Amino acid sequence: MKESDFGFKKYNKEEHSSKVKDVFNKVANKYDLMNDVMSLGMQRLWKKEFIESINPSKDKNLIFIDLAGGTGDITKRILSKYKKNTAVKVIDINQEMLKEGKNSFKSHDNIDFICSSGESISITDNYADVVTVSFGIRNMTDREKCLQECHRILKPGGVFACLEFSLPKDIILRNLYDAWSYGVIPKFGKLIVGEEKPYKYLIDSIRTFPSNEEFNEMVRDAGFINTSIRQLTGNIVCIYRGEKE
Ligand SMILES: C[S@@+](CC[C@H](N)C(=O)[O-])C[C@H]1O[C@@H](n2cnc3c(N)ncnc32)[C@H](O)[C@@H]1O
Repeated sequence: MKESDFGFKKYNKEEHSSKVKDVFNKVANKYDLMNDVMSLGMQRLWKKEFIESINPSKDKNLIFIDLAGGTGDITKRILSKYKKNTAVKVIDINQEMLKEGKNSFKSHDNIDFICSSGESISITDNYADVVTVSFGIRNMTDREKCLQECHRILKPGGVFACLEFSLPKDIILRNLYDAWSYGVIPKFGKLIVGEEKPYKYLIDSIRTFPSNEEFNEMVRDAGFINTSIRQLTGNIVCIYRGEKE
């Protein structure tokens, strides 16, 4: 049976999925705050760049799927940039994360929150103009399947945009990054959320995620064309983009 990485450990699909759910159940109510703390606020800049990089072929009447959308942070940014008749479906496997998201939106007019797995998305074929996955694909049990699903639900010409953690190539930055990740982040987890373990998983999972080139190859294998890689902040994070033919 195929196993999936859970940090440095490997589990079968069912165990992996339930362990990931457990992680996000634990962090849901402090998720946005912890993101700012862990990234020293940088996540705001990365997400801003990410939204700018989507660059769809039109700017009105767009249908977005914010996959692994969690608390809806990316959705807020999408709606603020693409105001004109934009609709967003926030899809996430975790009800607790979606609940936090629903509570943070004043009006839900053009937003739907859907609890669904990224490996079997409950959306029809050729539906969306854009699929975003921000800091989510790393946690998927079957990333290849998720990429195929993203391709399936996009309209021809639609854009797939993925923001994910990566690893600095510069040795000095890498050492600083490791020291911050392993030495400081779990302690903030303990202080703010009362738990260190979920953060250890999140840190380890960055180290077992494919390299930029390997992941870009997976995006291409799922059928996307015109793929690109954009490294930010010395490759602490990376934006992957592709289009459906
Ligand atoms: C790190 S959060 C990212 C949230 C948001 N996109 C952001 O950028 O702030 C990862 C999200 O992926 C979701 N997730 C994990 N595995 C998933 C799966 N198989 N299908 C759908 N969502 C999943 C988690 O529940 C969690 O909400």
